[in-house]
Amino acid sequence: MKYTFSKDFFWGAATSATQSEGRTTTDGKGENIWDYASKKFNDRFYEGVTTASTSRFYEDYQGDLDRLADLSFNSFRTSISWSRLIPEGVGQVNPEAVQFYHNVLDGLNKRGIKPFINLYHFDMPMKMQEIGGFENKAVIKAYCDYAKTCFDLFGDKVSYWFTFNEPMIPAEAGYLHDRHYPYIVDFKRAAQVLHHIVLAHCGAVKVFREGQYSGKIGIIMDVIPVYPRSQNPADLKAAEMADLFYTRSLNDAILKGHYPEKLKVILNQYDQMPEVSTDDLSLIAQTRIDILGINYYRPRRVKARDSLPNTNGVFSPEWFYDNYEMPGRRMNTSRGIEIYPNGLYDIAKKIQNEYGNIDWFVSENGIGIEGEEAFINNGIVEDDYRIKFLEEHLIALHQAIEEGSNCLGYHMWTFVDCWSWQNAFKNRYGFYRMDLHTGKKTIKKSGLWFKNVILNQGFSL
Ligand code: FCB
Repeated sequence: MKYTFSKDFFWGAATSATQSEGRTTTDGKGENIWDYASKKFNDRFYEGVTTASTSRFYEDYQGDLDRLADLSFNSFRTSISWSRLIPEGVGQVNPEAVQFYHNVLDGLNKRGIKPFINLYHFDMPMKMQEIGGFENKAVIKAYCDYAKTCFDLFGDKVSYWFTFNEPMIPAEAGYLHDRHYPYIVDFKRAAQVLHHIVLAHCGAVKVFREGQYSGKIGIIMDVIPVYPRSQNPADLKAAEMADLFYTRSLNDAILKGHYPEKLKVILNQYDQMPEVSTDDLSLIAQTRIDILGINYYRPRRVKARDSLPNTNGVFSPEWFYDNYEMPGRRMNTSRGIEIYPNGLYDIAKKIQNEYGNIDWFVSENGIGIEGEEAFINNGIVEDDYRIKFLEEHLIALHQAIEEGSNCLGYHMWTFVDCWSWQNAFKNRYGFYRMDLHTGKKTIKKSGLWFKNVILNQGFSL
């Protein structure tokens, strides 16, 4: 059986500034929340590895761009670091950063690799966080000014812009679930942050449209498909609530131009409604994107709660459902998450049927594995499990495309093993292995496999 993809299908990988660039003391970069938190709350990071020692893309970008070209990529996503470009978040632009990003973009274009550039990948400048981060409307304005600076400086070199990566995460992980700095646990504040991120997204799209820059603009979302344990009405209700809070809250706002009515009713009922003005709602209603990126790693399986929630505790979406561990599910034990390739097919169908079959692409998909050195044979990581993972997900995607989904490409997370937030270098995801001691980057078996897929526009089983 042969699985063929279109000639102009985007093949590539994604990374982000904070996870790949690394820091030097002389690069003029301002601190962001990760630079700060990985030092100040060092115990929260796997083996205490900070942002200073990520994959050295800042110094080794020419080598890395050659590596991308070696894999025959036609596209590649990274992000601009707001705090590298504008160290204080507003005002003065760092000339070294301008030069660096020009060099990266020129290097990509010269190699025939289309730059997909994201403006915000979890990395709030510390100076902006000090005044409240996205809780403060002034930071929305600062973000839009930063976006304009990027469009003005680099607009003629970028084909695809993205306003945010996984906009739910900074709100959820930073303001409710105690995973990201500022480690606040308060649903209403999380909801306010999420709403302000939506406004920042809309503001940046507006700046882009008004400035008539070339290229397209979109956003990258982590849509986790929700599956109920059974067809029992109580399980179906649980699934509806998980989907409403974690997916439809954002998807409907960004893709349909309004928040779900039902969410508003529930938030009012529990006194958790953030401040939302009519001007905000009309901006959301007017904003449309050109392209959607979808990051897919795992399904979300849920069931009706077994017990009543503690209503004296912190309000959270988990008041309405329990996570469900399906017997026989396939697990990636390194991350503790389920592997479910068909979820990608289901997402594609959802976009096709419920969100106008908008142009989209898989902006992240991948498998993080701990202890990959155990698979090194003759100097290369023989990651057959990653090849299998890729095959299965690409087959699911292929099927959806055959059925009319407008999926334009597939980007793997990631090309060189990189730093993954609080997990630091615990789990490896790359097509290249990064030796943390020597800095040496060596292609894995999956990288060679993926290159063949690109060259053959598909693969056979
Ligand atoms: C995604 C993030 C990305 C990376 C992968 C493993 O949720 O967008 O930065 O850490 O997970």
